[in-house]
Amino acid sequence: MTQAVTSQVVILDYGSQYTQLITRRVREVEVYSILLPGDATFKRVFEENNPTAIILSGGPNSVHVKGAPSVPDGFWEECEKRQIPVLGICYGMQLIVHCLGGKVEGLGKGEFGRMPVVDIPTHTKLFGEDIEPQNVWMSHGDEATVLPDGFKCIGKSEQGCVVAIEHETKNFFGLQYHPEVTHSEKGMRTLKHFLFNIAKCERSWSMANVLEEQIQIVKEKVGETDHVICALSGGVDSCVAATLVHRAIGDRLHCCFVDNGLLRYKEAERVMVMFKNELHLPVDCVDITEKMLSELKGVSDPERKRKIIGKEFIECFKEYKKTVEKKTGVVPKFLVQGTLYPDVIESCPPPGSDQKHSHTIKSHHNVGGLPKELGFELIEPLRVLFKDEVRRLGKIMDVPRNFVARHPFPGPGLAVRILGDVTENNALETLRLVDEIYINAIKEFGLYDEIWQAFAVHLPIKSVGVQGDQRSHSHVVGLRAITSNDGMTADWYPFEPKFLQEVSNRITNQVRAVNRVVYDITSKPPSTIEWE
Ligand code: XMP
Repeated sequence: MTQAVTSQVVILDYGSQYTQLITRRVREVEVYSILLPGDATFKRVFEENNPTAIILSGGPNSVHVKGAPSVPDGFWEECEKRQIPVLGICYGMQLIVHCLGGKVEGLGKGEFGRMPVVDIPTHTKLFGEDIEPQNVWMSHGDEATVLPDGFKCIGKSEQGCVVAIEHETKNFFGLQYHPEVTHSEKGMRTLKHFLFNIAKCERSWSMANVLEEQIQIVKEKVGETDHVICALSGGVDSCVAATLVHRAIGDRLHCCFVDNGLLRYKEAERVMVMFKNELHLPVDCVDITEKMLSELKGVSDPERKRKIIGKEFIECFKEYKKTVEKKTGVVPKFLVQGTLYPDVIESCPPPGSDQKHSHTIKSHHNVGGLPKELGFELIEPLRVLFKDEVRRLGKIMDVPRNFVARHPFPGPGLAVRILGDVTENNALETLRLVDEIYINAIKEFGLYDEIWQAFAVHLPIKSVGVQGDQRSHSHVVGLRAITSNDGMTADWYPFEPKFLQEVSNRITNQVRAVNRVVYDITSKPPSTIEWE
């Protein structure tokens, strides 16, 4: 992808839930890696991406079933010719065995979970010095029963299944378990050994390189008199993207922060101060609260709420484009977007889904995504990065820590956290207070960084309570806190009872309109993270 990157690992995705994790693990050790769909063409794999090493991911299919995903024609010959080491993980190992003349069969019982790998010979290429039994994370229903010519078994499960193989001269390796997950004790050591000692990858992937390079790309793309605009949401991605573009083109970047009336407690004030004082970004705050709330009045349907908010945002942005044109005398040509790598990856679809590629883009979510007819060319400097990499990039640009570590916040804001009509019952004000108390308590108890996202929800029901010795009939609020990697799946966070007790006391004492607090103990799926 870049001049600075001297080694590149291609990971072919066959649909395992861990594929993105492999990609990140490789990047964590400063080797650039990209994820391609399992059915990528020969040209895409070898000519467009010139891999230093290739990793074949796990996946839910069985290699011996008709139509199971495989590698492109000529793959193995090309790897041999160019001496590209290949590591197959799980399904990837079975693919090696199946394609090169061995046999893979259904186990009947399967092996799942943590278990030891034993019988590692003294001399193996893949394990190097790690010849003692090691605990790993296994997950397979099929087994390699006959190995292809030239391969040897370099590790077995306790049941006697072949779980590690290698072809020493061709540099083809297979692991039946997942070295990328933390439950596999020495998994990372094996992966590093493969990357550095076998494939001779160089550590050339660092955020400092990315920064320098992306600044250069922006400078080259944007002409000397061109102007660029960016919608800042108050979230990490748009902020880091804007800061980077600002470094490249200075005040020809014009940022707009929209106060849509659905923000958290003092959010607009707080982020504007940060943009101005700490990041020195040129940001205009456009307040559309009145218009937004009048459009939302009487609307309870979640989808209609989202549509209205999206439409108002676009109207506002059209106006902003005109404002910039008036101010500079030039029609702004470019738009900065904080698109991340998980939004552009094409993943392998689940078996039987009839899809070609499953895209992880959540288009209905991207209220900030602007329609094509606005006529901008896009600048997406974070397109190759994962969220944790964006945070690191933000850090080296001195974006304040409490900002880069912020929990995600949805584009439609508190509107999806107030069930029903957002303009009724003073709900916005109540929710802002409750949310502020809740988040402050999470920070005070040192839990903020452990939690992926936390927020309060305003429910449209009232319940009976006793407040100040009097019967009350007030609102119920829900609290939600989840752990997650990417927001696609999530678990509820198990707070200590003491914490919940404290928060509930604070909320009911400080917010008159609330007399009952409940905690959401649902994972995603079946729930979603937000309540609407
Ligand atoms: P769900 O509720 O779909 O949310 O499980 C997954 C993640 O996406 C966020 N979210 C949104 N983000 N615009 C956004 O920018 C939206 O419309 C939107 N809806 C949900 C949500 O907060 C969670 O982090």
